Amino acid sequence: MSSKTTEGIATPLRIVTVPEFVKYKSKARPIVMVTAYDYPSALIADSAGVDAILVGDSVGTTTLGYETTIPVTLDEIIHHVRAVRRGVSRALLIADLSFGSYQADPADALRSAVRILKEAGAQAVKVEGGSNMLNTVKHMVDAGIPTMGHIGLTPQSVHIFGGHKAQGKDKESARHMLEDAAALENAGAFGIVLEGIPAALAGEITAAIRIPTIGIGAGLQCDGQVQVWHDLLGLLPGKPFRHAKRYVNLAEQIKSVMETYALEVRDRSFPTEEHSIN
Ligand code: KIV
Repeated sequence: MSSKTTEGIATPLRIVTVPEFVKYKSKARPIVMVTAYDYPSALIADSAGVDAILVGDSVGTTTLGYETTIPVTLDEIIHHVRAVRRGVSRALLIADLSFGSYQADPADALRSAVRILKEAGAQAVKVEGGSNMLNTVKHMVDAGIPTMGHIGLTPQSVHIFGGHKAQGKDKESARHMLEDAAALENAGAFGIVLEGIPAALAGEITAAIRIPTIGIGAGLQCDGQVQVWHDLLGLLPGKPFRHAKRYVNLAEQIKSVMETYALEVRDRSFPTEEHSIN
């Protein structure tokens, strides 16, 4: 397996373990993470050389048609992680703990995380929260489960925030976020997603901790970036989010293919000889 760097030099694609992922920070090597929810997207992302694949609870809004991530269940996460697992051979596979599957107490969180690792094959889990998750993260890490934190615009708290609103914009909440990041590091988290916070604050957090920060809508100074599969590929209708770069509008391209297919079936130009059994 090899990949081209931006200079065009071939470099081998390494199997990404949790220690390897953490090491990228000290090497100042930007970490590439993307979400995936099914087998084909996992195969493509893995072969493209991304470092980590996240089965995010964004599966709810991108794939299952929910309005928020709140209704996503642990069983749904497990179902999608299983599919992604079959397509991943080298990237680090991380899965979100769904809302309600870890907040009650650390033992509950551990039970949910164990299911994700044992039944679906993820290598690590992610939880939303900072200082409030200290005991939970510690409990899971002590049990041998690599755990990632997620602070800032944490979508599972959408109803507390009153919408998907940027966080950490005033001094007080910025200070809290710095404390949250330190608490997660002390609890043993191997990385932290920083979502929807000012770039300068993300830079400050990144400089203050030894574990990697992975940004989404958090600027360039994070140790890596994560984007949602459907956002990168333009698979959903509507204006792209400010934090998302739509590299291609696949929804339009797919629709055009569907229209052509429908036309060809209706005018009997498909199937041709080539697609028929003689
Ligand atoms: O669920 C998700 O996709 C996420 C990323 C946006 C970090 O948590």
